[in-house]
Amino acid sequence: VVLQPAPAVTYHIIGGILDFYVFLGNNPEQVVQEYLELIGRPFLPSYWSLGFQLSRRDYGGIEGLTSVVNRTRAIKIPYDVQYSDIDYMEEKKDFTYDKEHFKGLDQFAEELHSKGQRYIIILNPGISKNMSYGPYENGSRKRIWVSGATGPVIGKVWPGPSVFPDYTNPEGTQWWIDELVKFHEELNFDGIWMDMNEVADFLNNESLCEHNELNYPRFVPKILDRKLFAQTLCMDTEQHWGLHYDVHSLYGYSMAIATAKAMENIFPKKRSFILTRSTFAGSGKFAAHWLGDNEASWNDLQWSIPGILEFNLFGIPMVGANICGFALNTSEELCRRWMQLGAFYPLSRNHNGPGLMDQDPAAFGRNSVLLNSAIHYLNIRYNLLPYLYTLFFRAHFRGDTVARPLVHE
Ligand code: GLC
Repeated sequence: VVLQPAPAVTYHIIGGILDFYVFLGNNPEQVVQEYLELIGRPFLPSYWSLGFQLSRRDYGGIEGLTSVVNRTRAIKIPYDVQYSDIDYMEEKKDFTYDKEHFKGLDQFAEELHSKGQRYIIILNPGISKNMSYGPYENGSRKRIWVSGATGPVIGKVWPGPSVFPDYTNPEGTQWWIDELVKFHEELNFDGIWMDMNEVADFLNNESLCEHNELNYPRFVPKILDRKLFAQTLCMDTEQHWGLHYDVHSLYGYSMAIATAKAMENIFPKKRSFILTRSTFAGSGKFAAHWLGDNEASWNDLQWSIPGILEFNLFGIPMVGANICGFALNTSEELCRRWMQLGAFYPLSRNHNGPGLMDQDPAAFGRNSVLLNSAIHYLNIRYNLLPYLYTLFFRAHFRGDTVARPLVHE
């Protein structure tokens, strides 16, 4: 897509059907409202999910996790939601938890609940291709994996060799619902954080994808390696909704729909919470979004602001960036400023990468400037929560933005 000075936009296309919609609102808010009427208005988040949220990869087992929760609680930081990243799993397999390093995780969840807090776990679409793994066996019996000419696609994600559920297949959705319902009986989570759903594959599929028009179309936009299948599936693989070539960008979207259905089963008549990395137009009806793997830098702190404002235009107002940064060690000053800014993100979550210094506010010590400042700004957030909730109601009811640029006013 090339922007011309005229002003005009030129689309270079190699096929497909394009439907164009033009929204003629009187002001930017109205344009967003009209757009969201078409793609679906955002879900109404549960009140608890507006609270402050803590997450990181590699807590160091149940002891590490519990000690962070305890120190955060002890110091009276307004805080409602705790996450577990892939380290809670057994060999990084969905629907399992590590009974050795995370022994008693089920009681940990109950303990959070007894304090009025909520628990969210990560799940990935990559399912371990392992004959003695129930979810793999069940899915294979139902034939729900994305497949190519030679059978199910085998990629590589966190658990090693993996297959990918086709969430556009009603059977695939049913399998996902069944596995989630079963696992909830084992671990009483309140929400799902779904990741790697672009869909991501660590393999460089160069030698795996056949030389044909779908994998190597005549024109390829400036993307990673100039390959449509770079770090994802071959484009000639098939899904229920069509060729991966046509539905690639709907992978996360279809996973959000399937997960929302599972949550309706698990929590009848109650709201839960779904956080997704991959989105498409309309994803906001089912899921919240974080801006992905940022780094602990002033640049990424700054860029989180346009990112959040944009996702409000896209109908995904429940959005935030990893507060204090995901990659690289943060610093006291950066993290302090980021906690101040993040206290006003619609989705306020501090998330950290593996092997890095602790960046939960309590880690900086009882009398630290950061901690006092974080408590101060989070208290302002909590005082304003009824207003934030009202904004989300208006987003849900008529398509308003929640965090909006000044020009909308
Ligand atoms: C991805 C996610 C990140 C997560 C990691 C491990 O990089 O974006 O947030 O911590 O995977 O699950």
